[in-house]
Parts: sequence; C-alpha cells; structure tokens
Amino acid sequence: MPEEPWTILKLLNWTTDYFKKNKVAEPRPSAEVLLAHLLSKDRLFLYLNYDRPMVKEELAEFRSLVKRRLEGEPNQYITGMQEFWSLPFRVSPDVLIPRPETEVLLETVLEFLGSPDPEVRILDLGTGSGAIAVALARELGVIKIVATDWSMAAVKLARENARLNQIDSKIHFVCADMFSAFSSSSAKFAVVATNPPYVSHAEFSNLSPEIRDYEPRNALDGGPDGLAVIRRIIKEAPAVLSHKGGLIMEMGADQAESVLQLARDSQLYESYRIIKDYSGLDRILLAVKK
Ligand SMILES: C[S@@+](CC[C@H](N)C(=O)[O-])C[C@H]1O[C@@H](n2cnc3c(N)ncnc32)[C@H](O)[C@@H]1O
Repeated sequence: MPEEPWTILKLLNWTTDYFKKNKVAEPRPSAEVLLAHLLSKDRLFLYLNYDRPMVKEELAEFRSLVKRRLEGEPNQYITGMQEFWSLPFRVSPDVLIPRPETEVLLETVLEFLGSPDPEVRILDLGTGSGAIAVALARELGVIKIVATDWSMAAVKLARENARLNQIDSKIHFVCADMFSAFSSSSAKFAVVATNPPYVSHAEFSNLSPEIRDYEPRNALDGGPDGLAVIRRIIKEAPAVLSHKGGLIMEMGADQAESVLQLARDSQLYESYRIIKDYSGLDRILLAVKK
C-alpha cells in the first residue's frame, strides 16, 4: 500500500502535537505561521487548502524551520516579519521585535499632538526596526520625523521598513549615540518618542531564552538597575525639545516610581504622569518640558 501523502492539514496537526510535547508557546499558530511562510502564502491559504499535498523538498525545508523553532528561535526571526500598528515590518536579530505595548506609546504621541502644525518635528530615539517612526509617519502625513539608533544595522533595517511602508521620504534616519547628532542650534522637536532598553541585569538573566538568547542585548539591557539609559534620556531630552514639548517614553512596569522621581528631581518638566498599557501595567511616561 502506498503511504498516504503529507497534506497541509496532516502536517499542521503533526507539528502542533510535536510543538505541544516540546512546550513551544502557541503551538498551532506557530505551526501555521511557519508553514504559511514556507509556502509564501497567508494563513487563510492554509485553511482553504488543507488537502494540498506537500512535496518532498517542501517537507525537508519545513523540517529545518521546525527545528529552529524548537531550539527557541522566535517565529518572527525565522519568517523575518512582524506586524505592528497593522503594518508589516521586516525584523532580524539586529533589532528588537516590536511589541504590542509599544502601540500605547504611539497612541500617547497622537493624543499629545492632536492635529499638529505641519512644521512640527518628532524624534524617535532608538528606532530599532523603525516601528515607531514608520507608524507615526503613516498616521501623521506631512510631519517631519527623525529616527536615530546607534546601531547601523538597525538604521538600515528601519530605512528598509520605511520603504516597505512607502513613507521613506518622510523620515530622516541618523546613526548616532543618544542625542549626539543634535546641537543647541538644531531645530527642536515637539515630541521625543522612545522605547529605550530598560531591563535590569537581574531581570535579564531571568528572561525567557527566546528573548535572552535571540533578541539584541543592546536593545534590552538598561544597566544594573535598568535605568541607565532612562536616566540619560530624562536629563538630556529637554535640550532637544521645544517649549512644552513632550518626552513620551516606554518603561518597565515596575519603574514608574523611579521614573517619576527622576523627572521630578531634574526640575526640567512642568508636568509628568504615567500611562498604563492594555494589561493595566504602568508603561509610558508623558513628561512636558517647562
Ligand atoms: C527597546 S529597543 C526599541 C526598538 C524600537 N523603537 C521598538 O520600539 O520596537 C531600543 C533601541 O534603542 C537603541 N539604543 C540603545 N541605546 C542607545 C543609545 N545610547 N543611542 C541610540 N540608540 C540606542 C537600541 O539599539 C535599540 O534599537
């Protein structure tokens, strides 16, 4: 009797069970994302083609993707893609995979700006994949956006994502440490939007291997207490902000008290408050420059 062929459904069922046994997170969606990626289709194609037989070469290639996932590599690095703000982003191990919490930062920026003057400028500090700058450029049209990162590889990928989302002419990309690209005479920003590295060393060693061993350490490591970069941002951002400009910064859920204290001690802001994320955790600082 000839062996029954491996169809899409049979392969998905087998892989889901295998992932479950090996404690891979979200086994069914993971299997679907990998198979859709292999076939260069979306997941809907899989549901509509459950009986499609798989050929030998596809099975061999799929086996190698499953192995990478089993070793802990995030799906996003295997497929090279992540959705953020309903937009497609290319990702690689050079950049953090954009997280849903960061969409709250976007919402805070949009609310803070209201309907902005077209001359207004925004700085995305530590742009990584370009998620914040690209999503803001898509939302705000004519506004000028500058996106910086000290990683050249990140800047290159962010630029690629701006092209992918057809807004590359609206974002100026700069490779630089912190605010070093701007002098006291540079034009000022109405908003500094930033999702800095904020994981403490103690937390870093407890991160899941999927994050710790695959995502770039310089996107996560906020120094011994997690506040090293945040401290610099709170102190240095006012020099590049316009009068009553907003520093809108993501942080760790347990950092609100320290972050508010830093803003208060700096005496550089007229107001500062914390905004919660979708899980009700403290997540965003909104500080308005004096
Ligand atoms: C947490 S990731 C955020 C990436 C992206 N903005 C996002 O939200 O998905 C932090 C980013 O800040 C960059 N970064 C860290 N320290 C920096 C510094 N001193 N100057 C410029 N960029 C820095 C890292 O390279 C990384 O891309």
